[in-house]
Amino acid sequence: MHSRQEQLDALREECLRCSQCPLSAQRRQVVFGVGPADARVLFIGEGPGEYEDLYGEPFVGAAGRLLDKMMAAIDLDRRTNAYIANIVKCRPPHNRDPLPVEQDRCLPWLRQQFGILQPEIVVCLGRIAACRIIKPDLRITREHGRYFRKGGVIMTAMFHPAAILRNPSDKPAAFEDFLRLQETILRHCPSVYEHLDP
Ligand code: URA
Repeated sequence: MHSRQEQLDALREECLRCSQCPLSAQRRQVVFGVGPADARVLFIGEGPGEYEDLYGEPFVGAAGRLLDKMMAAIDLDRRTNAYIANIVKCRPPHNRDPLPVEQDRCLPWLRQQFGILQPEIVVCLGRIAACRIIKPDLRITREHGRYFRKGGVIMTAMFHPAAILRNPSDKPAAFEDFLRLQETILRHCPSVYEHLDP
């Protein structure tokens, strides 16, 4: 029996060779995902941008710095207790939304990541992830911070950090959503914080 880490490593190797859709022809790097294999919380964004394509890691540009800050405010960190992935693993040109066909071709990778990680809490960042993972008609402006249960997994949608950078007036609501997320983790999955000093 392979460990979760071994399974994720093997899946990553396979994913790096993917050529299922035209985005693969233009990418510099596949952006598979980042985080510990035993993470119980999974963040799902939309797709890599310029810096992610360059460095091969999700959320490493300006939006990523904001995401890291909001995560840190509730003691989440991609190096210790949270995993971050995207709906599509290759950068759409000019950062356009990934097309439905690109999402369809790429989603089996995320499904397999999901199957290995078996997260207890999923946080969809922005409309594309929320509509794809939670429900197709989800409206972020109305339903951000709400909780859903799908297949025994707790799910929520939040503003995409890039959208918060464009509309800073959404920042207080976004931080409230993170505080609610912390409460949810403490109630349903306190082991997420076990490594922290008392
Ligand atoms: N935006 C996303 O949705 N994902 C990233 O990895 C970076 C920016």
